[in-house]
Amino acid sequence: MIKQLEEVLNGASEIVKEGFLSNFELEFKSGKSNLVTSIDKKSEQFIFNYISKNFPSHGILAEEGSNKVSSSEYTWVVDPIDGTTNFAHGLPLFSVSIGILRNNEIVAGGISDVMTNTLYISEAGSGSTGNGVKIKVSERKTIDESLLVTGFPYNVKENPGNAFEIFSLITKKARAVRRLGSAALDFCYVANGVFDAFWEINLQPWDVCAGILLVKEAGGKISDYSNNNTTIYGKQVIASNGLIHNELQKLIFQKFEEPVSKNL
Ligand code: IPD
Ligand code: CA
Ligand code: CA
Repeated sequence: MIKQLEEVLNGASEIVKEGFLSNFELEFKSGKSNLVTSIDKKSEQFIFNYISKNFPSHGILAEEGSNKVSSSEYTWVVDPIDGTTNFAHGLPLFSVSIGILRNNEIVAGGISDVMTNTLYISEAGSGSTGNGVKIKVSERKTIDESLLVTGFPYNVKENPGNAFEIFSLITKKARAVRRLGSAALDFCYVANGVFDAFWEINLQPWDVCAGILLVKEAGGKISDYSNNNTTIYGKQVIASNGLIHNELQKLIFQKFEEPVSKNL
């Protein structure tokens, strides 16, 4: 299945790369900040057709709605472009992300860092790779020497969970904090040791499915803001090198307030 995962990610990446800076159509999903382009839809259609052809019985859960409910134990969780706002504005930081669930366990995941031509792949129990080379999380032990990354969800203006207060506190403690605009890439750069940790609230299953396994298999740690295990349906995620996890989690938890359900 890994061979097919790589093949479908490479195919979708070609579509996305070709569509970048082209004359694509732009629509608003909800309000002016939540965008979808014709290239998101084209990429998703390609992925849907590929999976349906190669694994006709498998289920599909995809961001732009090409879903397929099935009784198979396998479900492919698809983000056809992660970082659509960057893509739509001409910023070359976006990815294609696909995770594979077997009975709700993530068994494989792949993220294509489209503009750097890097394909990140992980398989449960077999580690994580970037273009075939093993990757590992960083070895930094304290927040004050760490480069961290976060993201803000589409309802950021409502400051869900005190996202701004958390950002402000951690920015004062860390070496530096970045905000890339593609959660899937954030996971990749924790997995390969560029960032020491990533945190975000209100992500969706397709934003995190492949990334969670990639970081775990690269030796990192994943939890929610209370330091409990989380699933792809969890509403908060901390992904780290493991060594700074508890220090970061405590800082986040100091300021975190559980959002009321309208924020979800
Ligand atoms: C978004 C990106 C972004 C994150 C948002 C996501 P999309 O996904 O991952 O980094 O901050 O919460 O919704 O909409 O570009 O696929
Ligand atoms: Ca996404
Ligand atoms: Ca998307």
